[in-house]
Amino acid sequence: MKNYQRYGIYKGGAGAGKSWWIAQKIVYNTIIHDVFNVLVIRKVGATNHDSTFSQIKKIITQTFDNWQALFQINESRGNEAVRCLHNNNKIAFKGLDDEEKIKSITFDNGDVTCIWVEEATEIQENELNQLNLRLRGVGYVPKHLILSFNPIDSSHWLKKRFFDKKQDNCYIVETTYKQNRFIDAEYKKELESYKDMDYYYYSVYCMNQWGSRSETTVFTNLKIHGFDIPEYQYQNIMAGMDFGFNHATCLYLVGFIDGELYIFKEWYAKRKTNREFIDLVKSSDTPEFPTGYHITAESAEPDRIVEWNDDCFEVYPTIKNKGSLMRGINYLKQLPAIHIHQTNCPNAVRSFQNLKYNQYKNGVIGERVVEIDDDPVAAVRYALTDFIEDKGSSHFFGRRLY
Ligand SMILES: Nc1ncnc2c1ncn2[C@@H]1O[C@H](COP(=O)(O)OP(=O)(O)O)[C@@H](O)[C@H]1O
Ligand SMILES: [Mg+2]
Repeated sequence: MKNYQRYGIYKGGAGAGKSWWIAQKIVYNTIIHDVFNVLVIRKVGATNHDSTFSQIKKIITQTFDNWQALFQINESRGNEAVRCLHNNNKIAFKGLDDEEKIKSITFDNGDVTCIWVEEATEIQENELNQLNLRLRGVGYVPKHLILSFNPIDSSHWLKKRFFDKKQDNCYIVETTYKQNRFIDAEYKKELESYKDMDYYYYSVYCMNQWGSRSETTVFTNLKIHGFDIPEYQYQNIMAGMDFGFNHATCLYLVGFIDGELYIFKEWYAKRKTNREFIDLVKSSDTPEFPTGYHITAESAEPDRIVEWNDDCFEVYPTIKNKGSLMRGINYLKQLPAIHIHQTNCPNAVRSFQNLKYNQYKNGVIGERVVEIDDDPVAAVRYALTDFIEDKGSSHFFGRRLY
C-alpha cells in the first residue's frame, strides 16, 4: 500500500486480484495523503467506465461503511471522476485516444502523483514515456506509475523493458487466480476449463506465463478506427444478438459499404437478465433503434426471443447447423475489410482482435477457433446469417419494409 517506487508492475493471469488490489491502493492513498492525485489510463477512454471506474467505485462503496461519505463520485460517461472531499484529491479517468483531454486535465491541489495504466499491453512504449513525463516534480509522496496486464505476448516491449533486464526503482508483483482467495467458484471453473480449450489461453490467463500466439490470429482484415458515417449511407444494416449471463449478452448494428463490413454500434453487458438487457437497449441514445430493425439472435434460448418480441422488437433465431460456426468465421475472414468503431464498440474490437485458432501444448495449431470471449463475433455472425447461409439475395434483410 505504501510502496511508491517509480514503477509498480502487476503482471498476472485473469482473476488474480490485480485490479481489485490496485484500486484499493489508489483509494487508500487518496484518503491518507494531503496530495495524491491519480490519472487512470486505458488505451480507449470509453472502456474505463465499466472497468477501472466501476472497480474504484466498488472499493469506495463496499470496503468500509464510512468510506462512501468521504468521496464525491461523478458517474457521467467520459467525465468519470472521484473527488476526496477532505483534501480535494482527485481520481480522473482518461483514454489515450483523446490526447487533448489528457493534456488539459487539471487537479485543484497540485499535479498528478500517480498514474495507473490498466491493460498496459494495449499501449505503445512511447505512450508510456509520454505519461512518465507527466509525473514530474518532487513532492511529499514520490511519483508512482502502476502498470497492470496479462502476459499476452512474449515479444512485448513490456517484457523487454521490465523483465528481461532489471530496472531500478521498480517492484514487480506476479499473481494468478490461485493466489486470489476471493475468486468465485464460477470464475475459477471457467478459467480451469481453458486447459482443455487452448494452450495459449491456459498459459497466459491461468499460469501467468508469457504467451506466444504467432500465426493463430483469425482476422487479418480488421480496420479499427473512429469513422463517422450516417446510417443512410450503409447499403444495408443488420442487427445480431448473442445471449449470455456469466458470458456477455451483446447486440450489434452492422452495415455494408461496397462489400466492406462496418460494425458501428454495440450494446454489451455481463450478468444482466434478459429484461435488464432489453431495458438497457431501450434506454440507449439511438432513437430509431430498436423497433426499425430485424434482429437475428442466438437460437438456443427461444424463451428469451419471445420476451424481446413481446416488447417492441422483432427478433428471429439464427440458423444453426453443422459447420455454421466455421462457415460464419470464414465468411468474415474473406471480407475485404471489417471496420470496427474504436470507441462505440470496444468489446467487438477486443473480441475480433483476439479471436484465435486453438493451439496444442506442442505448438501445433488446430483448425477450430477458441470460443473464449467470442460473444461479439458470434453476435455479428448471427447478424449476417442470411449472407453466410447464402440467402442474401432472395430475402429482404435489414430495415423493415413499411
Ligand atoms: N480484495 C478483494 N476482496 C474481495 N474480492 C476480491 C478481492 N480481490 C479480488 N476479488 C475478487 O476476485 C475477482 C478477480 O479479481 P480482479 O482484481 O478483477 O482480477 P484481475 O484484475 O487480476 O483479473 C474480482 O472480481 C473479485 O470478485
Ligand atoms: Mg483486471
